Amino acid sequence: MADAIEVITLVLELIWTLIRVHFENIRCIYRVFVPNEPKDIRGEITIITGAGHGMGREMALRFGKLGAVVVCVDINPKGNEETVKIIKDNGGKAHRYECDVTDRAAVFNLAEKVKKEVGEVSILVNNAGIMPSQPILQWTEPKIKSTIDVNLTANLWMIQAFLPSMKERNHGHIVAMSSMAGLIGFKNLVPYCGTKFAVRGVMQALENELYEESNGKSKIKFTTICPYMVNTGLCKNPRIRFKDQMKMVEPGDAADQIIDAMRRDINEVTVPSNLHYSTRFFGYLIAPSAARIMNSFVDAGVEAHD
Ligand SMILES: NC(=O)c1ccc[n+]([C@@H]2O[C@H](COP(=O)([O-])OP(=O)(O)OC[C@H]3O[C@@H](n4cnc5c(N)ncnc54)[C@H](O)[C@@H]3O)[C@@H](O)[C@H]2O)c1
Repeated sequence: MADAIEVITLVLELIWTLIRVHFENIRCIYRVFVPNEPKDIRGEITIITGAGHGMGREMALRFGKLGAVVVCVDINPKGNEETVKIIKDNGGKAHRYECDVTDRAAVFNLAEKVKKEVGEVSILVNNAGIMPSQPILQWTEPKIKSTIDVNLTANLWMIQAFLPSMKERNHGHIVAMSSMAGLIGFKNLVPYCGTKFAVRGVMQALENELYEESNGKSKIKFTTICPYMVNTGLCKNPRIRFKDQMKMVEPGDAADQIIDAMRRDINEVTVPSNLHYSTRFFGYLIAPSAARIMNSFVDAGVEAHD
């Protein structure tokens, strides 16, 4: 009798789970065609790493214009100061902190200072990154370690430092910069690709952990960004065969797309967004060896540089 009740309970639970899976799938498909309205981020304290240059700076300027209180973090004081000045000159609110985000103690110290001097952070943008480019046997040990430290480990330090207050208030949004190199493996970028695939793994695992811990009640959102080549100087030696069809993205355009995706609570986007479908096709629908042949034809990537 007890066994029969157990089986019936299990079957009912399975049916209920399948119904919920089905509805969630339909909701997600609907959201592809009818995205959420962009959310209001006025007054939200937004911390951005690598805010002194490139996409970090462009995002900081846009967050400032949208009324967020921007906390700019960079290892480079000059660039960071410039970003803060532009935000303030445009009437926005910004604060600057110099910090090497690979240093865990410095990141925790930063979190304490920001809490005391600015307030509780509700939007974290893990953006700082570096991209050396060499065939794998020429990557030195310090280069491999620093690429992992900046692109991956620092994301974990920032999450550990800023997630607790988001969890206490059940309010927040974490944005992470992965890359097209986090969806497809590229020549000369073996360690870099490793870090960018890993960033996607960190984001997915963290979102799943919060979902399970809270019984699906967590309101903290996650957005992972996978840009194609963006004209910031990070890609020092780009190789693009079809230059008219696959132009580099301008950093301001990338920032517009990133902030739009974040404000609409989109989970993962490519920049430009149309690459999403081709990468899904090459990633899941054709064999890896066939995708390699196609990638050789498209021939977009980066040449080696120091
Ligand atoms: N530019 C591209 O083509 C491209 C493509 C895909 C993904 N991405 C990713 O987007 C992010 C931003 O790229 P970008 O091109 O704007 O970079 P960028 O080089 O223009 O700016 C990076 C900023 O990060 C800062 N930074 C580096 N190490 C740091 C550290 N240890 N602590 C604090 N700050 C540090 C730098 O000082 C710089 O201001 C990176 O994570 C990058 O990997 C870039």
